Amino acid sequence: MDQNELKKLVGEEAVKFIEDNMVVGLGTGSTVKFMVDALGARVKNEGLHIVGVPTSNRTAEQARSLGITVKSVDEVDHIDLTIDGADEISNDFQGIKGGGAAHLFEKIVATNSNKVMWIVDESKMVHKLGKFPLPLEVIPYGSKQVFKKLEKKGLHPEFRMDEQGKHVLTDSENYVIDLHLGEIDHPHELADYLIKEVGIVEQGLFLDMVNTVIVGRQDGPEVLQA
Ligand code: A5P
Repeated sequence: MDQNELKKLVGEEAVKFIEDNMVVGLGTGSTVKFMVDALGARVKNEGLHIVGVPTSNRTAEQARSLGITVKSVDEVDHIDLTIDGADEISNDFQGIKGGGAAHLFEKIVATNSNKVMWIVDESKMVHKLGKFPLPLEVIPYGSKQVFKKLEKKGLHPEFRMDEQGKHVLTDSENYVIDLHLGEIDHPHELADYLIKEVGIVEQGLFLDMVNTVIVGRQDGPEVLQA
């Protein structure tokens, strides 16, 4: 199976955990796209009553187009389960997210969910976090000053730009800075430092947050409890 087939496999496996009448947080990214397709099929074929709480405009559009009822995080009183992708997951179930620039909304939805599930192909499982650049969402105003501080601290920042050389914008019209760290030895300390820096709205370390991980392996989906 290639990477896309593994993503589809875990997307389809994840929706088996969704029950009728659930409020489900819908993550963002190419793996989640398969999951939302599979959920749309269940809603259509089984007549399930599901409310989806999307973490990006992209996911909201896809869910709506498949007939899934969509509400914002502020319109629901609870979220039963959030299913999302991840960029890296370490042996101790800590994660990096934000490769798709959606980590602010993803973290808001995840921290307001009773259960969180991540779905990944096996390439995302790592011994230590950090090879994947750590995304930060930053307010445009003053972002060059934030950048300089990160540089001084040896965190190797890079503004995320699109093909036209323009800043990639999040759904909140903020910028993204990626930190090229190689290895993250102390994720909790790094997260504490980053979130205290004025101008950084959110950082992409998702720590102590996940309950279940489904890993797409060549011999089938592996379900891990954190
Ligand atoms: C979006 O900002 C991210 O957190 C995604 O969940 C993550 O990048 C995984 O995306 P893929 O499933 O496309 O690899």
